[in-house]
Amino acid sequence: MVSTSFFIQHIKLNNYKNYIFKELEFSPKLNFIVGKNGLGKTNLLDAIYYTCFTKSYVSNDALAFRFENDFFRIITSISKTAENQLVEIKNSKTGKKEIFINQVKQEKQAEYIGKFPAVIITPNDNELIIGASENRRRFIDATISQYSSEYLNNLLTYNKLIAQRNALLKSFAENRNFNQLLLDAYSEKLIPIGNFIFEQRKLFIDSFYPIFLKTYSSIFEGNEQIRLDYESDLLQDNLENLFKNSIQNDRNAQRTTKGTHLDDLSFNLNTYPIKKIGSQGQQKTFLLSLKLAQFEIIASKQGIKPLLLLDDIFDKLDTERISKIFQLIYSDAFGQVFISDTNENRIQQLIKENNITNYKIIALGEVPK
Ligand SMILES: Nc1ncnc2c1ncn2[C@@H]1O[C@H](COP(=O)(O)OP(=O)(O)OP(=O)(O)O)[C@@H](O)[C@H]1O
Ligand SMILES: [Mg+2]
Repeated sequence: MVSTSFFIQHIKLNNYKNYIFKELEFSPKLNFIVGKNGLGKTNLLDAIYYTCFTKSYVSNDALAFRFENDFFRIITSISKTAENQLVEIKNSKTGKKEIFINQVKQEKQAEYIGKFPAVIITPNDNELIIGASENRRRFIDATISQYSSEYLNNLLTYNKLIAQRNALLKSFAENRNFNQLLLDAYSEKLIPIGNFIFEQRKLFIDSFYPIFLKTYSSIFEGNEQIRLDYESDLLQDNLENLFKNSIQNDRNAQRTTKGTHLDDLSFNLNTYPIKKIGSQGQQKTFLLSLKLAQFEIIASKQGIKPLLLLDDIFDKLDTERISKIFQLIYSDAFGQVFISDTNENRIQQLIKENNITNYKIIALGEVPK
């Protein structure tokens, strides 16, 4: 599928994190957000992320309101397939979060997500490599959800049912009773949904893996052998048997001990787990390849090039790798890109070395108190 792109022309922030009131214009291609520590580079990228996903990437909603304020607003003017769309997100501590496109209220989150796809890379994403399995599940889910609202809806239902099944197991333990029929009622509802999630994740990995390998080797030359594997209880047995055979374990643990909510990905470098043996630069390289492959898969499935938000990604990478990334994101495979850096000189030099002409530098200054 040929992908088109969309871009944010203009943003207006009101009470979003450190921004009392801020308006900015962007380039349709590369945008460099530069400034010293603590001036709001990450918060600006996060506001863009918020526009795409109706939530922050780095904090919960309570911390998105500018301190001591009880509402915030993010208004973006977005150009998509030659049309201008005005997206307005309003959030209030006392009321509800509201999203409007051209003044039309968006009622369903699952239908809104995916209209403006984005891929973000931040320093905290290292958790994807070294952190708990939920980080990797979130990565898979965030990717598939951007091109399949059916997947997202099933996932939301699955998570709700698992939470209810867990609450039931807990109540059995607390009340020292057990009701097999009641537990089975939840298991029966979960089985088709769990199977669907498993099948979708398998299909996703099958198409993702070759793109990931290609991305890694095309950008980062070398003889490192990398490998990614999908891990799931459902690869061993079907969900019906898994539930049936783990009733005692579930009762002891007071939670559902088998299912797709425990899936994981294993990442290896030269046959060893990358989280244990990878250098910081190698881990970062691995992470960037995962995210850039995520970009490519969303672009091809959705037919729209996502926004690319790169927060402080250059530290620990050698100049050769940074240049390769620059050339890649400046190519037509990518649409609008936002890059934050504390070092404006490094950005100026990269712009010159890579003959970049379609760009804008947004220098954030001190905010008057
Ligand atoms: N809810 C909030 N209300 C007001 N200020 C906030 C809020 N959340 C964060 N801040 C402040 O916003 C400022 C900018 O934070 P941000 O993380 O965007 O900085 P940055 O430019 O990315 O810095 P660095 O280069 O260190 O990554 C910080 O001083 C932070 O404490
Ligand atoms: Mg930052």
